Amino acid sequence: MITRDTIEDVKNRIDIVDVISDFITLKKSGANYKALSPFANEKTPSFFVVPAKGIFKDFSSGKGGDAFSFVMEHEKLSYAEAIRYLAKKYGVEIKEDKLSDEGKAEQSEREGLYILMNFAKEYYKNILHSHDEGKGIGLSYFRERGFTDRTIEKFELGFALEGWEHFSKEAIAKGYNKELLEKTGLVVKKEDNPDGTIRTYDRFRGRVIFPVHNISGKVIAFGARMMGKEKNQPKYINSPETDIYHKSDVLYGLYQGKNAIRQQDVCYLVEGYTDVISMHQSDVENVVASSGTALTENQIKLIHRFTENVTVLFDGDSAGIKAALRGIDMILKGGLNVRVVLFPDGEDPDSYSRKVGTTEFQKFLKANQRDFVSFKIDIISKDVDNDPIKQGQAVIEIVTSLASIPDEGKRSPYYELAAKKLGVKAEVIIGETNKIRVKAEKNLSKEAYQEEFKNLPKELIDDRIFVTTDSQIYFQERETIRLLLNYANNQLENQKLSDFILHELDDVVFKNVTFNKIYSVFKEGIANGEILDNQFFLRNDDNDVKRVVTDLITPRYETSQHWGDKFHIYFSKEADILNEMALTNVLRLKFRVVQKMMEDNLQLVKQAELSDDLDLLDKSLETQTGLKKAETELAGLLGIVVAK
Ligand code: UTP
Ligand code: MN
Repeated sequence: MITRDTIEDVKNRIDIVDVISDFITLKKSGANYKALSPFANEKTPSFFVVPAKGIFKDFSSGKGGDAFSFVMEHEKLSYAEAIRYLAKKYGVEIKEDKLSDEGKAEQSEREGLYILMNFAKEYYKNILHSHDEGKGIGLSYFRERGFTDRTIEKFELGFALEGWEHFSKEAIAKGYNKELLEKTGLVVKKEDNPDGTIRTYDRFRGRVIFPVHNISGKVIAFGARMMGKEKNQPKYINSPETDIYHKSDVLYGLYQGKNAIRQQDVCYLVEGYTDVISMHQSDVENVVASSGTALTENQIKLIHRFTENVTVLFDGDSAGIKAALRGIDMILKGGLNVRVVLFPDGEDPDSYSRKVGTTEFQKFLKANQRDFVSFKIDIISKDVDNDPIKQGQAVIEIVTSLASIPDEGKRSPYYELAAKKLGVKAEVIIGETNKIRVKAEKNLSKEAYQEEFKNLPKELIDDRIFVTTDSQIYFQERETIRLLLNYANNQLENQKLSDFILHELDDVVFKNVTFNKIYSVFKEGIANGEILDNQFFLRNDDNDVKRVVTDLITPRYETSQHWGDKFHIYFSKEADILNEMALTNVLRLKFRVVQKMMEDNLQLVKQAELSDDLDLLDKSLETQTGLKKAETELAGLLGIVVAK
């Protein structure tokens, strides 16, 4: 338990405005601050921060409290986790002592959920091992499936007795309250009794139990498989979503397999509980299951924390393969290298490992793994049969996958292979792939823009999926327009800011249409000797222009200094450092534009190589060299190191 002193220490250093600004954008309003509620959808701000009192109040959702409560609520942390987070932020050393009564009382509801889930897990385990029905039905079932004692212990398997209230009664006798029982989803509420009373019953009855662990080993959900063959009953019943269980953020087996995944540097992906467990029994521990659905972005990020390599294991029923192939593009998008293994018809990892035994199973995995993209190209191209319509569809199917691969270096080796197999020119594959990428990146900059002000900037910076040259250009263009709108007439060392920027960026056309409109109007106005303040643009009847201008002249940038560190944009007293800002901004924009030109020109180089066009090759290589030189020069001015 974290000591009182530590908590006091953290409390003393907290600045609630600073804490909240890490997550949302606050706007000063008198002595206080306001913002759009992060907890509800709204158009007018109803979220208030009162720094003098160290509190926030959200009138939309009714939530309110101090900085700790905000972090707990916003980040879904427990009280203890929130203290740790804030201690880290403010550089307070954490001291801990034994759990006190007082400490217990402070445990948040989430911790209550964890404790109850743990109790339930122990209860179901105990039934499996010590109760006649548990042993007779549950344990014998696991034995029949070939699960060893070690496996049963490792995955903490259990059994839920047949009957409506066995578990609830036990839990209530142990002092857990009904409300908490419902919140964990272990107990289901039945509301519509004719006499108006509310009854509750156990969710899991007469089933074997598979606990689902989070990454640190806490039980957060259960899967329960039926025993008999009753009709109208789902084979598996799973816990509902709760405050501690978000299905799309969890991978079954990750806790038990994470060390093996890191060591082997590859993660096998299977369908469900029984596949994961059987593979462990075959000494393949680097395996996770997505619980029957396609992987989510968060699950992919989770895997990415341990390895860059995913091998998807497919059941051998060929009907489902094509549909399943599409889901894998998501994994490519995450920047992971994907391989596949196809099992013989009618087999899944569970059945096949039991059938052939450990040694053969491991050999089979090694011998049958194939690179996913070439595997997909093979499968898709088989059906083309010289039919132009099918050929077109096949091209779309393949280039969609190719466009998902973020790294050009990993993508380009497939162009020729795909072209050959599909019977088209490589230029077609390259061209179509690029079309999709350009489209996706346009959407991305829009998304990234929205993201920037919605949540932690961390997402933008850390996540390699989101940082593209296009979105970087977008941000830089916007920053240029913002400087112009706010400080056009401010005096730099030798000239006005607007003169400096217009002179430096004379030959640049802004990629964003709205920015370009604003910029053109500026240019024209300056040429005519007019003074353009932002009111001028607000009178403009182009709605896009008005929206962007309003956005950029609202001084919300002044609220967080942390953003400054991350984005290398100076917020605090920017009017004082305009000289430096204007210069870096111009350099940065040029830098990004040059990088974009290099990316585009590289496509020309590739095309020239593919079509043996030596003239084009010569020209495009020369261009590339020139651009590289410009990039290095700009980088030098900016103090950035670029790859050779
Ligand atoms: P299976 O149908 O193979 O389940 O689904 P099983 O328990 O291995 O059944 P048998 O013995 O082969 O007939 C494979 C995985 O898909 C998930 C489970 O995780 C299971 O381990 N699944 C399956 C569900 O989540 N819900 C279901 O209704 C069915
Ligand atoms: Mn099965």
